[in-house]
Amino acid sequence: MNEKYWENRYLNHHTGWDMNQVSPPLKVYIDHIENKNLKILIPGAGNAYEAEYLLNMGFKKVYVADIAKTPLNNLKHRVPSFPDEQLLHINFFDIQLEFDLIFEQTFFCALPPELRSEYVKKMHQILEPNGRLVGVFFDFPLTEEGPPFGGSKEEYLSYFKNYFKIKTLERCYNSHPKRQGKELFFNFKKNVNGL
Ligand SMILES: C[S@@+](CC[C@H](N)C(=O)[O-])C[C@H]1O[C@@H](n2cnc3c(N)ncnc32)[C@H](O)[C@@H]1O
Repeated sequence: MNEKYWENRYLNHHTGWDMNQVSPPLKVYIDHIENKNLKILIPGAGNAYEAEYLLNMGFKKVYVADIAKTPLNNLKHRVPSFPDEQLLHINFFDIQLEFDLIFEQTFFCALPPELRSEYVKKMHQILEPNGRLVGVFFDFPLTEEGPPFGGSKEEYLSYFKNYFKIKTLERCYNSHPKRQGKELFFNFKKNVNGL
């Protein structure tokens, strides 16, 4: 699942995960953020409707990162004013910037499960001391075939609890209709003493 794999999925329109709209649980969270000055990252952003929404809501420091170029081009096409330097065509694991807030949606579960520990460490590394990782995880059993690869509340806890304070990790009440009953909403705060 390298750059070529993901690029081909976009070029061949095999993008079943794409909701063509802001993720409803993330929209509700965004609508409650008062500090428009936060430096925000959406990794594995895909077409990044959330980034477009954030920009429209007055957030300026919004970065999107994706290993595939096509979705970044799509975002630029939809939002020509999106700053080029905030469109990161990069492997998530190579990001060297720091952020106050990182949004997760269908990225963790798109990665091969053997990268899950690395993902947690990387998130911890690129968050500012008071930073938060907020988003949704799939809530269905982990399978060998994917993406998406599933997971459960217990599994997610086992990965994140040593690095983050778990503020929320609950079944979503406001998922997109196609994802009803299959998503957990979470809000994790960086634990500066994390391993
Ligand atoms: C299942 S899609 C989800 C896209 C978007 N988050 C959404 O919900 O529509 C996974 C995305 O992660 C990107 N991706 C996969 N591995 C990556 C990596 N190592 N670094 C950055 N992006 C990656 C893919 O190109 C793809 O856009």
